[in-house]
Amino acid sequence: MTSPFTVEVLVSDTDRLRAAEQDVRRGLAERPRSIPPVWFYDETGSLLFDRITRLPEYYLTRCERAILEARSEEIAAASGADTLVEIGSGTSEKTLLLLDAMADRGSLRHIVLLDISEEILRKAAAELQARYRVEVHAVVGDLRRDLVRLPRPGRQLWAFLGSTIGNFEPASRAELLAQFRRAMGPGDTFLLGTDLRKATDRLLAAYDDAEGVTARFNLNVLEVLDATLGADFDPGRFEHRAVWNPDGGWIEMRLRSKEDQQVKVAALDMVIHLARGEEILTEISTKFQPDAVPAELGRAGLGVRGAWSDDDGDFLLTLAAP
Ligand code: SAH
Ligand code: AVI
Repeated sequence: MTSPFTVEVLVSDTDRLRAAEQDVRRGLAERPRSIPPVWFYDETGSLLFDRITRLPEYYLTRCERAILEARSEEIAAASGADTLVEIGSGTSEKTLLLLDAMADRGSLRHIVLLDISEEILRKAAAELQARYRVEVHAVVGDLRRDLVRLPRPGRQLWAFLGSTIGNFEPASRAELLAQFRRAMGPGDTFLLGTDLRKATDRLLAAYDDAEGVTARFNLNVLEVLDATLGADFDPGRFEHRAVWNPDGGWIEMRLRSKEDQQVKVAALDMVIHLARGEEILTEISTKFQPDAVPAELGRAGLGVRGAWSDDDGDFLLTLAAP
């Protein structure tokens, strides 16, 4: 007998359009101009991110995988969970290590995945269902809004990997961690991946690789806005920039206008004037001090049960519970 496999779509085309309108109206009117990073992840963007994870400069994925290789059994045992709930799951490739550990303990019953990127999510969910033969529930949704709308079978290990938490600025990060806490039940656990502070040249290389994949990933957001809002951004008239912000403790990805230009956004009946050299902030990627992580979790009502780093201390996985 095959186990159930469901895909639930919580973000309609209308929701997507309204959200894009709001984000662009607000973000491009403000100074500095900005676009939230959720718009990177159409199918092309998700595939580009997957390529980024294999680049020599992008150490994050390799470090997090190394920790999971060494610690998944311990994490599965400490969580006591029979359900894995992965948020911003993408390809769920590293997650196989956690799922294997849960399956080896004989405790894996359900998998719940939430991501905004539908094609990548469907593919990952189908692969997990074929591999583990347990109930897989995939949800196309926005993690900033939909954590409370997830199904909650069994005892859950919530995984938020890849340092995606670092893409939120401090106030939204605190709010997001509090939302995780509110969505979790008393016996549940939370596994958080965070990238740590390190030499600036390594950080800059990780966000501006030699092959130019990160540049394409960044520029792709303009194509997403063109397709979603009938805008006429021409990616050829922008260039990718990665900048370390020492005050925030984060890398900023920006798109710099190569010339004076006007961009029309049909859905908003809006014209944006960009001067040569003017920049749009598309993402922050926070690099944490190790002791900031338990402090932030604590403020959200989550107490640390275990924390593991890779040999070089580049990346941190923290297991916490309400
Ligand atoms: N967890 C994976 C993927 C990280 S990339 C890893 O560790 O490699 C970030 C993922 O979060 C992408 O799959 C993207 O589609 C998803 N994502 C980004 N913003 C989101 C949002 N607001 N709501 C839901 N998913 C989001
Ligand atoms: C998903 N997120 C954690 C990645 C990061 O490193 O901040 C996205 C990314 N941006 C550029 N490269 C990768």
